[in-house]
Amino acid sequence: APLLTPAELKALVRTIPDFPAEGIQFRDITTLIRHPRGMADSVRHLAAMAKSCGAQKIAGMEARGFIFGAAVAVELGIGFVPVRKPGKLPVETIGIDYALEYGTDRLEVDPSAIGDGENIVIVDDLIATGGTALAAAQLLRTAGAKVAHALFVIDLPDLGGADKLRGADVEVETLMEFE
Ligand code: PRP
Ligand code: ADE
Repeated sequence: APLLTPAELKALVRTIPDFPAEGIQFRDITTLIRHPRGMADSVRHLAAMAKSCGAQKIAGMEARGFIFGAAVAVELGIGFVPVRKPGKLPVETIGIDYALEYGTDRLEVDPSAIGDGENIVIVDDLIATGGTALAAAQLLRTAGAKVAHALFVIDLPDLGGADKLRGADVEVETLMEFE
């Protein structure tokens, strides 16, 4: 059967108003991934994009980036690198602190996961301000990766994240946009 189109996949995303704070329209992918073809076809679209980028590994950010990133890696038969919240990895890590809308957060990676010059493609469910993905790209580059592409199910273009990544020489592709 042909893949569900991005427009059909978009119709499977649920919007929850005022979560986690008033005024936020939360774009909830749990309704997309509980649909068997919603999950499979989102992953197949992302995998085709990652393959075009010449991905040698996929990196995904905890937690929602693990869902899509790990599945894309399996689909392509390549490895997956988890980019984790602080204190979770059992080895010496390298980390990066980054600004959120309110406060700061931190991401960590095991540098031994990354080969020198390896082409690592970032996958996450959603790009909003781009702070998370930019931090992940910088961290992976510090570990020696080539990071030239980041793929997302959802873009919130009004928040400027894709433009921020492009300004750091990371090409962005997404399956759908929400205002
Ligand atoms: C969400 C989402 C992205 C990030 C996007 O993750 O999954 O990783 O926010 O926002 P940004 O572009 O403004 O950085 P969140 O930090 O809520 O964590 P979760 O995956 O554990 O839910
Ligand atoms: N992460 C950051 N902004 C978000 C939004 N509007 N919906 C879902 N996840 C998000």
